Amino acid sequence: MKVFFSLLTLSFVLFASTDTDACKKCHPIISKEFQTSMHKKSTIYEDKVHKAIWDKHPAKAKGNYKCAKCHTPILSEQKEHTTGITCIACHTIKDVEQHAKSNTNIYSADKKTFYSAQKGRENEKVVYKQKTSLFGLSKTTVGSAYHNIDYTNKIYYNGQVCMGCHSHKQNSHKFSVCTTSDAGVSTDKSNCISCHMPKVDGSATTVRISKQHAYHGFAGARVKPELLSQYLSLALSKNTDSFDVSINNGAPHNLFTHPLRVVQLRSTLHRGSKTIPLKTHTFVKIIGKDGKPSMPWVANAVIKDTMIKANEKRVIHFDTALQTGDRVEVQLGYFIVNPKVLKKLKLQDDKELAKFHILKAKNFAIIQ
Ligand code: HEC
Ligand code: HEC
Ligand code: HEC
Ligand code: HEC
Ligand code: HEC
Repeated sequence: MKVFFSLLTLSFVLFASTDTDACKKCHPIISKEFQTSMHKKSTIYEDKVHKAIWDKHPAKAKGNYKCAKCHTPILSEQKEHTTGITCIACHTIKDVEQHAKSNTNIYSADKKTFYSAQKGRENEKVVYKQKTSLFGLSKTTVGSAYHNIDYTNKIYYNGQVCMGCHSHKQNSHKFSVCTTSDAGVSTDKSNCISCHMPKVDGSATTVRISKQHAYHGFAGARVKPELLSQYLSLALSKNTDSFDVSINNGAPHNLFTHPLRVVQLRSTLHRGSKTIPLKTHTFVKIIGKDGKPSMPWVANAVIKDTMIKANEKRVIHFDTALQTGDRVEVQLGYFIVNPKVLKKLKLQDDKELAKFHILKAKNFAIIQ
């Protein structure tokens, strides 16, 4: 069904550059969310972790900012790389080409037509039209005065649009420093888009009012992780003289994919008035060389990999006998940057990075 709407005044905005600001007027909620996202903040100017790693990278001395392909796309030919991933960059990805080193986004040349997804409109291309009503009192328009919309590109429905940058990255030793399984690319199950851009309240545009829109802050380790906690679950089972805690990862990729992240399960036993700390379990994927951890460009092997895998149910055993009346408090959380690496990056004073972020917490009351 085509949607028509009335407009008494219609102001025209000139189509200017690749500027995110231009979208604010008609997409204020989405634009505001986007300001908080790691896509907006993907540059060395707005992401201190990215800057700290880049400052140590050997390519820096040569002035060869190789990160541009994914961290500052489109403006790659510019020297400053001050702009992160823009609205237009993402909405003009026509296709994703598979390569061994890293995939490549193929951008459409037409910067006035944006790809998007909407159920029931998979075959539509919307070109802006204006109609005057019978009495000439009001004008009716269809589409956007600013841009055309193409709903036919299937990569915006199955999540493949994310895989130009997120699939994998090899270093010069042909070693993959990070990978995200493409099991999350799907049309019949949940996918990258449905989990990381869930529908939240508020209209997608000020022109055509909708109840909800796809969240553009991109929930992840650094922004709104609570939107993802529903995909994780914790359970406890009691044995005669011990107990097990199971962690269920509902994500179709490793719980965390970036090698800087560290996951922990922290548990406490509450017995009467006593609080007894139990063993903390740590899950990491550490890359390096000659058996030692290293920076990603030096690494040629996985040194240690205890990270919770895609859709895995990990069972953790505790040698503690539980009694009726006990309460076991369990927290599954993470550090954005491995605490052992923070100092090397001179980031130890940063509160957000030094903090243990809780993703899921649960209390288990032992009743029998
Ligand atoms: C003059 C107002 C206006 C401006 C400016 C504008 N848009 Fe839109 N946009 C609209 C309207 C209206 C729609 C909904 C059209 C429809 O439903 O038929 C829309 C729809 C969209 C959609 C598709 C939404 C869907 O239904 O899935 C995308 C993507 C989009 N805009 C991106 C952008 C981006 C990116 C910018 C900035 C570069 C931008 N828009 C600037 C008015 C605007
Ligand atoms: C092939 C695309 C690609 C290239 C090239 C790339 N990155 Fe990234 N980078 C990503 C993606 C995608 C993420 C987010 C992934 C994640 O969190 O698992 C990311 C995340 C990061 C992070 C973690 C930031 C945080 O939020 O804590 C750092 C640090 C980083 N990149 C550094 C670099 C540096 C330095 C370069 C260039 C030498 C580079 N990257 C090149 C795709 C890329
Ligand atoms: C043009 C490349 C590019 C595309 C396309 C892209 N991303 Fe990203 N994404 C990145 C980079 C680079 C980062 C890391 C930025 C940083 O932390 O400095 C990132 C970060 C993220 C994060 C935050 C990770 C964290 O640890 O907090 C999430 C979530 C994410 N992307 C999801 C998506 C989804 C979902 C899509 C598809 C709809 C997508 N991305 C498309 C490059 C891209
Ligand atoms: C069923 C839901 C689900 C699907 C589908 C999904 N993810 Fe995730 N994703 C999660 C959860 C849960 C986490 C971990 C919690 C967090 O980051 O706050 C996560 C974490 C991430 C992160 C942050 C990793 C890090 O180390 O910082 C990125 C980037 C990401 N996902 C990208 C993707 C991409 C790309 C796809 C599609 C190929 C995808 N995800 C599919 C649920 C999902
Ligand atoms: C990392 C890629 C990415 C970036 C960056 C991005 N978008 Fe989107 N956007 C998407 C995807 C994918 C969808 C389709 C979501 C869905 O399935 O509803 C979408 C949907 C939309 C919609 C339709 C929302 C709805 O729920 O109807 C609008 C409007 C839109 N984007 C505008 C923007 C604007 C404006 C910006 C910048 C402020 C922006 N996008 C930045 C990937 C992106």
